[in-house]
Amino acid sequence: MKITVIGAGNVGATAALRIAEKQLAREVVLIDIVEGIPQGKALDMYESGPVALFDTKIKGSNDYSDSADSDIVLITAGLARKPGMSREDLLQKNASIIKEVTSQVMKYSKNPILIMVSNPLDVMTYVARQISGLPEERVIGMAGVLDTARFRSFIAEELHVSMQDINAFVLGGHGDSMVPVVKYTNVAGIPITELMPMEKINAIVERTKNGGIEIVNHLKTGSAFYAPAASAVEMIESIVRDRKRILPCTTCLKGQFGIKDVYCGAPVKLGRGGVEQIMEINLSEDELKALQQSAAIVEKNCRNLDTLLA
Ligand code: LAC
Repeated sequence: MKITVIGAGNVGATAALRIAEKQLAREVVLIDIVEGIPQGKALDMYESGPVALFDTKIKGSNDYSDSADSDIVLITAGLARKPGMSREDLLQKNASIIKEVTSQVMKYSKNPILIMVSNPLDVMTYVARQISGLPEERVIGMAGVLDTARFRSFIAEELHVSMQDINAFVLGGHGDSMVPVVKYTNVAGIPITELMPMEKINAIVERTKNGGIEIVNHLKTGSAFYAPAASAVEMIESIVRDRKRILPCTTCLKGQFGIKDVYCGAPVKLGRGGVEQIMEINLSEDELKALQQSAAIVEKNCRNLDTLLA
């Protein structure tokens, strides 16, 4: 396995290190346009190998030819939010960056799986798919795993139980319109509604929806990266080891949930082929409506890029 990470910022560097520490690849290549940064960070990570106990090669580069024949490419390039900005404020600038990055990647790798992290996430996943021409199941967005991780961590904190025992799904677009699905949220199989009053659940749902901005407001100079990187690496691990985990990811819906040809967060099976199945779970009428509204927002933002992508 060869995995390339585009963008040596906080998300990219953290993800590259986690990939190496978990030995998910023989080689990790970290690419950035800024000279010296990917080289320096990659070398520093590589030198941690003897103590952190991994043998993965890590190489930093400014040259896309070093990404040649990658099996998986994690795309984190682009601008991050600052306080007061919505993810949509990044739309035009990041779309141009993702357009360029994706064409460069496709020059050197024939059939990679692309995992997208740049915001606004669902729209950037669409851009990468349009530009790469890859089959839809090979272009996947990381958002649901992150939003779900936040949801799960808040529930675990509230109930004083292990994070591991919290199962949940956050679906829809990665934005204010995301849909944490209470019906599929349980603690070791016990429905969350039996463990917490609805009021508390609703407060956690709200905190989850604002999970990204909560971090931006603390950091002020950028957005979250530890949980986003860990979430992307969880997806990569399921693909590399063909574990067929069921994870909420941004995928191109094909009529599921009454949504057609729009990239949106849904539960999918992730394996060596990328998205191997989309799980069309039963949702309440309200949740279904919320999911469709969320998809409509993504669709509208995609249409705003028609000229750029023409
Ligand atoms: C967040 C950004 C990365 O949710 O979208 O933290």
